[in-house]
Amino acid sequence: MSRVLWFVLGIVFGIAALFVGGYFFVRGGGVPMGTTAQPLPLEKTVARVALRASYGPSATRKNPLPLSEPNMLEGAMTYADHCAVCHGGPDKPRTAISEGMSPDPPGLFEQKEMVVDDPEGTIYWKVTNGIRLSGMPAFEKTLSEQQRWQVTMLCKHADRISPAVRSALQR
Ligand code: HEC
Repeated sequence: MSRVLWFVLGIVFGIAALFVGGYFFVRGGGVPMGTTAQPLPLEKTVARVALRASYGPSATRKNPLPLSEPNMLEGAMTYADHCAVCHGGPDKPRTAISEGMSPDPPGLFEQKEMVVDDPEGTIYWKVTNGIRLSGMPAFEKTLSEQQRWQVTMLCKHADRISPAVRSALQR
């Protein structure tokens, strides 16, 4: 056989061996699926890179609603109903649901984890599309566009809420 053919066969077998090896690695328990397991090496990096590639240019989208108390209050109501169970609130301890999840839902009203430095476009994208294999739901079909921008506004300004917004988050 010619050298080229051996070379091509080598590549084909090499790729096949990778697939078979990967299958037996996963079959043998190499990827623990319990949320109590530690993340795999590179898991967080791959997820971060994939997420950034997914929202792409929508990161530059601007909030069409004006920053106002009524919009922040509506956002707080949506947040209390649909987000606080995982992301907590300004005066809320973490729930058992949130503690049991992997990855950890970030505390969007906790100083270190709030998203106030993120562009509103990426927050809106995440609320709309969700984040695969993380537990973060997509709200595209369940919240109106207006509700999603209002709750985005709230997350973006989580460090500057009025007493009225704070109490709306309590319900
Ligand atoms: C069932 C639990 C759950 C609910 C309910 C939920 N989220 Fe999340 N959310 C998550 C998890 C888990 C992550 C982290 C995903 C990751 O690490 O990639 C996340 C990530 C996010 C992020 C990105 C945070 C960051 O640091 O980049 C934002 C913003 C967000 N959620 C907003 C919301 C809003 C707004 C709502 C309500 C409309 C909501 N989430 C409802 C679980 C939830």
